[in-house]
Amino acid sequence: MNARFRSLLLLTALAALPATAALAQSPVAQTPPMGWNSWNFFAERVTDKDIRGAADQLVATGMKDAGYIYVNIDDTWEDKRDASGVLHTNSKFPDMKALADYVHSKGLKIGIYSGPGTKTCGGFAASLGHEEQDAEMYAQWGFDYLKYDLCSFIPDVMQKQAPNDKAAQMKLMIDAYVKMSNALKAATAKTGRPIVFSLCQYGWDSVWEWAPELGGNLWRTTGDIDPHWDRIYSIASQQAGLEKYAGPGHWNDPDMLEVGNGKLTLAENRTHFSWWAMFAAPLLAGNDLPNMKPEIKAILTNKDVIAIDQDPLGKQGKRAYSDGEVEVWTRELQGGALAIAVINVGSDRYSTHPFHLDLTRLGLGAQQSGKDLWTGETVTLTNNQPVELPSHDILLVRLDHPQS
Ligand code: GLA
Repeated sequence: MNARFRSLLLLTALAALPATAALAQSPVAQTPPMGWNSWNFFAERVTDKDIRGAADQLVATGMKDAGYIYVNIDDTWEDKRDASGVLHTNSKFPDMKALADYVHSKGLKIGIYSGPGTKTCGGFAASLGHEEQDAEMYAQWGFDYLKYDLCSFIPDVMQKQAPNDKAAQMKLMIDAYVKMSNALKAATAKTGRPIVFSLCQYGWDSVWEWAPELGGNLWRTTGDIDPHWDRIYSIASQQAGLEKYAGPGHWNDPDMLEVGNGKLTLAENRTHFSWWAMFAAPLLAGNDLPNMKPEIKAILTNKDVIAIDQDPLGKQGKRAYSDGEVEVWTRELQGGALAIAVINVGSDRYSTHPFHLDLTRLGLGAQQSGKDLWTGETVTLTNNQPVELPSHDILLVRLDHPQS
């Protein structure tokens, strides 16, 4: 589908919006949202107690002070609708309002999950035909964030109503996201509570081109992450080229963090976290907070790396060049500063065959002074200097005053 046709579809969909609502700049997510989400560690097992525990731990570990504010309940909180269409929670979540109050009492915000189809990805009740009712309920409960996951909307509506017509299917999908966006805005107008709108449709149909206009604050750019290097590398590679679509209030979302999950090595955890910071990605931790190891906490709370992610300029980094197994990414920061990430995506590269950093390819002069954000030390970079990196490790440097 070409870009002109896509804009036309979006314009038609937006025609249903009040003019001011469609164009209003969202006050939320001026930097990428930070927090924690239940899915990557707890999946369908998550309970009210786990959410309270996560909130407690964000405070106790210093993560809240480092910027992690949203505590997001993912799928599997839902039960059935009653005769008036009100969706009830299941026994794992006995009282959502009380839970939201608890999370707010810690100075945090809380998020919830649904989808435009009849069912969520986990097979629980979703919002089709009840969008306004659900949005108002989330707002009444006190929710600050909604992740809206396409899933059963594909067979329920897209394939049923427009079999074999991809363009019509796409229009139905965009309409569904516009509908919930409008429902959230109406709920906010009633309650005064702004709600971050997170689109989850796996990066289909160039979502980055149409999600910002309909009020999306973030949108998944790929399918699901899992805690394996190959998956993280594949997702990271798919971010190259998307940098022009991100900015304050609207962000590419390469999915939630797996830092501290599975069998990722420390180097892999560091690189994963640094990459997401270079991407200006939402930083939603997904690990077992009550049992977090100190070295994982040190990664998740590295203030210098978080400052890259949260840089107020909001300019997503780009892949400057790659040289076989080594990739160089750069990100422009406020005040003319620059972050450089050199990542060994392959096997060990030690002194017998190191990578040589070409500063001229970054438009930089032959000598630079900066800070290594993982050692905390001052470093000097010189043109063509060898960079020895173990497999999957990273050199992340911030230059406050890049020299041309
Ligand atoms: C999809 C999403 C995941 C998670 C699950 C829940 O797979 O992409 O992030 O929300 O659904 O069922």
